Amino acid sequence: MKKVILDCDPGHDDAFAIMLAAKHCDLLGVTTVGGNGYLENVTRNALSVLEVIGRTDVPVYPGHAGPSTVPLVIADNVHGKSGMDGPKLDPPKRKPETKHGVDFIVDTVMNTDGVTLVATGPLTNIASAINKEPKVAERAEALYIMGGGAYCGNWTPAAEFNIYVDPEAAYKVFHSGIPIYMVGVNLTRQCPVNKDLIEELRGLGNRAGVFGAELMDFFAGGGDAHLHDACAVAWLIDPSLVDSAYLHVDIELNGSLTRGMTVTDLRTLQTNERDVDFDLGSPKKWDDPPVGSPFRGQAPNTHVGMRLDFPGFRKLLIETMASYD
Ligand code: RIB
Ligand code: CA
Repeated sequence: MKKVILDCDPGHDDAFAIMLAAKHCDLLGVTTVGGNGYLENVTRNALSVLEVIGRTDVPVYPGHAGPSTVPLVIADNVHGKSGMDGPKLDPPKRKPETKHGVDFIVDTVMNTDGVTLVATGPLTNIASAINKEPKVAERAEALYIMGGGAYCGNWTPAAEFNIYVDPEAAYKVFHSGIPIYMVGVNLTRQCPVNKDLIEELRGLGNRAGVFGAELMDFFAGGGDAHLHDACAVAWLIDPSLVDSAYLHVDIELNGSLTRGMTVTDLRTLQTNERDVDFDLGSPKKWDDPPVGSPFRGQAPNTHVGMRLDFPGFRKLLIETMASYD
């Protein structure tokens, strides 16, 4: 099992990321970050999810409340005031750890070999950890993120929410050299929350299944009903679920229309007739653009998820949720 730290902002889809990671990874800890909701709420929600699945052994470390450069933007329009509206939950019995989430990330990666970081919220904590100890980028096995989009956004036409909230943090992370596996909205829109999935979860009859259905009941009403964050963890668990391309990605910071965009260089990918269904099998050789091009010298730096095996993902999700009490 891969040793994992999950940095998240629960968040309905973050909850499924936690439940997948808790079953299929050696989940060393959960760190929380302001994003879908305020830090206090997303931290409480992380504790609640772990309590529902009986994993109160997994520590939760609150990280940054929000970006250091711009005010926090939350997605209460999608996730509700609590950050995880829908299920009726008692307050969690546990308290979060007193150690800061960033310190937990740094200390764990520096003292434990082979730790994979997964980030399903804004990259504020990950960037802060790399700022505090740049060797985190070398020592971490990899960073799987739900964030960005190869050719589309969701919060704006160009930018996906997690990157949009803290583009400066994303820029730092994408320029750190850490191996990045990017699950963008171009991939997660292949992972819809639909009625039959919700009813199959509810039909499991166990607490986790009913909890998952109640999460989706609310989330599906919010309009952007895709299990974004769960896709990032699923890729880590079973690499065969995602076809990817190794491309150059950079973060737009200044565009009035494009701030927070993950500018992805798709030019090495052949496209076949059907719209943007890229032919991932035979990428053109990456050639350095001519001298003078602003893109010169920018070789691929990110594994960009392009195609999801949704039936395979769905099977993993149902089996995982059925395995809990
Ligand atoms: O754009 C989707 C992402 O933003 C997901 O991580 C969701 O939880 C929200 O944080
Ligand atoms: Ca999230």
